[in-house]
Amino acid sequence: MAAIRAAQLGFSVALVERYPTLGGTCLNVGCIPSKALLDSSEKYYDARKHFAEHGIEVGSLTLSWEKMKARKDAVVRQTVSGVDYLMKKNKIAVYHGHGRFVSANEIQVDGGPRLYGEHIIIATGSKPTPLPGIPIDKKRIVTSTEALSLPEVPPSMVIIGGGVIGIEMASVYGRLGSQITIVEFLDRILPGLDKEAAAEMQKALSADYGVQFLLGYAAEGAEVGPEGVNLTIRPRTGGEPKTLSAHTVLVAVGRRPYTEGLELEKAGLSTDERGRIPVNDHLQTAVPHIYAIGDVIQGPMLAHKASEDGVFVAESLAGRKPHLDYRLVPSVVYTWPEVASVGYLEEELEKLGRPYRVGKFPYRASGRARAAHEVRGFVKVISDAKTDQLLGMHVIGARAADVIAVGVAGLAYGASAEDLFRLPLAHPTFSESIKEAALGASEGQPIHI
Ligand code: NAI
Repeated sequence: MAAIRAAQLGFSVALVERYPTLGGTCLNVGCIPSKALLDSSEKYYDARKHFAEHGIEVGSLTLSWEKMKARKDAVVRQTVSGVDYLMKKNKIAVYHGHGRFVSANEIQVDGGPRLYGEHIIIATGSKPTPLPGIPIDKKRIVTSTEALSLPEVPPSMVIIGGGVIGIEMASVYGRLGSQITIVEFLDRILPGLDKEAAAEMQKALSADYGVQFLLGYAAEGAEVGPEGVNLTIRPRTGGEPKTLSAHTVLVAVGRRPYTEGLELEKAGLSTDERGRIPVNDHLQTAVPHIYAIGDVIQGPMLAHKASEDGVFVAESLAGRKPHLDYRLVPSVVYTWPEVASVGYLEEELEKLGRPYRVGKFPYRASGRARAAHEVRGFVKVISDAKTDQLLGMHVIGARAADVIAVGVAGLAYGASAEDLFRLPLAHPTFSESIKEAALGASEGQPIHI
């Protein structure tokens, strides 16, 4: 995004990429392939469990994991080739090879040229965080990258980490028949998202796919044998360790910024204690003509946040006055039901001592949700107790990923909860629940409950 926007705004742009394909984690081994598998596995699960409710009898069903993976790979190929097309269209010079700083203005591409940049943007992203005592062999103990292409649907899988990756992958493999156990350090899943929505998600995963949760445990050791992995976990608060056995273990305990081999020091740069490149509000590093964006700096590690950063830098360089506010960046978990969140969480407002009001509308009271047989979940609107200013919106339910867009727009334009209530949203839609939740926050009582 940074390269394309900069080229659109008149800059001569060179892009250095160490992998053979463009698009980074999101397109190659992240958002796109995981959503392809989430969509395919959801269709399979629906056919197996829900079609009959709609009067559709499908008889016996068979699953071709190979075909499912092939479709996912085709989606990735198509998306990545779309990026190649955009590079050509925007006359961006692409160099494949590892790039390293030679000086504050020069990048040496391994096996390629030395490039001079008046401005340089570092967008090297992140890698999965390893866990001490749990050696990743990429076969039985895997990261999210290998989890997208496992040779078979594992009969059993332990997932270490109940964050976004853990929950999405539990959905994929749970739907396809794996027995899933999630080991999570905290006493809840999905930290950083609405607590009630996370609790509902946990219930849904147990009820739908039989996922088991071991909350409050840390994984501390693993042994790989011919049949699978023996994993040692220990209660966070101390006490006796437990051993779990599984065919496959997925480690999903977060990601860390990736700057290895960049030779930042040659440009006069260094990283902070969490491996991030420090930047100011303009996303400038300690060397003002070098910028850093995305997972390699502070802020949520999300592709759409990285895109915002990239556009922000390109436009700033072109003399425009763009805005950047990470509070407006929504988080979405692409499970079913989906979970989506933007703005403040209740616990953050409590910590700040800022009085707030909450309006909540359950999907079961929505006509559209009933027609679709998708009655689980709710929309929650949070507003300032004195001014009614919209402070946050949290959704769990069908199409939450799209419903949240209204909350993003509301927050961005400083709407009140009442403003959201007054939006003439179409009926019947999932989004119209926002009006009800907003009225609940604003006046204490939605219309349809
Ligand atoms: P995460 O930060 O979302 O979750 C990691 C979880 O692992 C946390 O709940 C943490 O408490 C737990 N944990 C840490 N150490 C542990 C231990 N020793 N034992 C047990 N549990 C432990 O990170 P995740 O899921 O790996 O995702 C990485 C990044 O990728 C995140 O920033 C996420 O937002 C992003 N991502 C976003 C997606 C989306 O937008 N839908 C999809 C997938 C990833």
